Amino acid sequence: MFSRHIPRVLGGAALLALVASAGLGVSSCAYQNEQELFAGEQLSCDTVSVTYRGTIAPLMAQHCQRCHGPTRAESGVVVTAHHDVQTLGRTGQLLGVIQHKPGYPAMPDDEPMLSECDINKVKKWVRAGMPDN
Ligand code: HEC
Repeated sequence: MFSRHIPRVLGGAALLALVASAGLGVSSCAYQNEQELFAGEQLSCDTVSVTYRGTIAPLMAQHCQRCHGPTRAESGVVVTAHHDVQTLGRTGQLLGVIQHKPGYPAMPDDEPMLSECDINKVKKWVRAGMPDN
């Protein structure tokens, strides 16, 4: 009676072991992919050649002008021209809103926070004196 049960128990254990190892295999693979993606993002983050026209204006166009442009100016804020963005940089509002600092409304209003890479680019430009380049 017992001897008939043993193989079944062993079979169950072997199946569990197989499932467990398959599970481990999948998770270690996902982990590797994550690392690769992260490495890729780091490599593509160029904060050296930051310019207003090449970096900041496209960021404003993509993430901000929908609500802060010629057709819609939430809070009276517009970010279409260099001097608009420069003014926000000077007052501290630009870095305050994109970094979700206390006391500033978190921007973009309806999207996740900008990537760390994009935020670093804006910081770099503000620190450089917000040139119109
Ligand atoms: C979906 C619409 C939307 C988007 C996109 C958006 N904003 Fe705003 N923004 C708002 C609204 C609404 C307010 C007013 C919020 C409030 O006062 O609480 C505001 C307020 C602001 C203010 C005024 C802050 C203050 O201190 O009163 C600034 C500066 C600003 N946004 C900058 C930006 C920047 C920079 C981006 C892009 C990174 C951006 N916004 C993207 C809707 C948006």
